[in-house]
Amino acid sequence: MEIQLWREILEPYSLAVDELIVKFEHMISAKRDNGQYSSIERVDGRVKKISSILAKCQKKGISFEDFEENMDDIAGIRIICQFVEDIYDVVSLIRLRSDMRVKREKDYIKNQKDSGYRSYHMIVYYTVETEKGPREIPVEIQIRTLAMNFWATVEHSLQYKYKGNLPESVNERLHKSAEAIVVLDREMSTVREEILDAQASFNYKANRVADILTNIQNLYNIANKQEIVRIQEEFFRVYAMDDMNELSKFARELDLLSESYKAQSLK
Ligand code: GTP
Ligand code: MG
Repeated sequence: MEIQLWREILEPYSLAVDELIVKFEHMISAKRDNGQYSSIERVDGRVKKISSILAKCQKKGISFEDFEENMDDIAGIRIICQFVEDIYDVVSLIRLRSDMRVKREKDYIKNQKDSGYRSYHMIVYYTVETEKGPREIPVEIQIRTLAMNFWATVEHSLQYKYKGNLPESVNERLHKSAEAIVVLDREMSTVREEILDAQASFNYKANRVADILTNIQNLYNIANKQEIVRIQEEFFRVYAMDDMNELSKFARELDLLSESYKAQSLK
């Protein structure tokens, strides 16, 4: 294969990764903008580097000509969640989507790998539009908790450093820390509801404050200065009370006030 064609071949994979990141990020913001908890904490993605594709071909005895048919992880998406429960929510969500067709799933959480690795893997087909028409691209989606990601990242770096031949002492510590991560994830799950409540009220407060500040900013252009100063002082006073009910009440009053200003200015 001519080297300059590599980029061209990888283009649809790159499009698939970009589009999927946008879609998953929108799922996050759709929740958060409404003050709701998002099962997805964050998402990133990558197209496998040419050097890694070549190395994998060599390792698996795949001829370079056939790599596309034999590799499901050229396009890769990684979804990070806070809790193990969230991972299964995301899995259900992906299964239900009409733009992703599941080819294969591997649950390395219920079936931890010998290395200690845990994650939920899905291979899905995703269609992109290319110059030559629609193309179904396989994409590997790895779904894991923050803790699982931490472990996998460290383990990967160590494998790289020792070129896959980990000294026994390092190996042992990795297995110990993998066990600790299992315990940590379990502990986090038991306090999940509490954390969710705290996060929800944090988001709710952040959204109310954002609404209030937007309203004040809009009023700057239409209300008189004294009134604005009074509103701002009132906001600081209510904010300092640290009482969600008071803050909501103030936000509603401000809404009404700006509505009435808007109505006046339309006259
Ligand atoms: P590959 O052909 O190597 O991709 O194996 P596979 O098709 O059986 O896929 P598998 O589900 O085992 O692994 C896919 C990906 O998961 C890898 O490319 C890694 O990103 C990740 N992974 C799997 N096992 C481990 C592990 O032990 N440690 C770390 N850090 N990552 C792993
Ligand atoms: Mg792989």
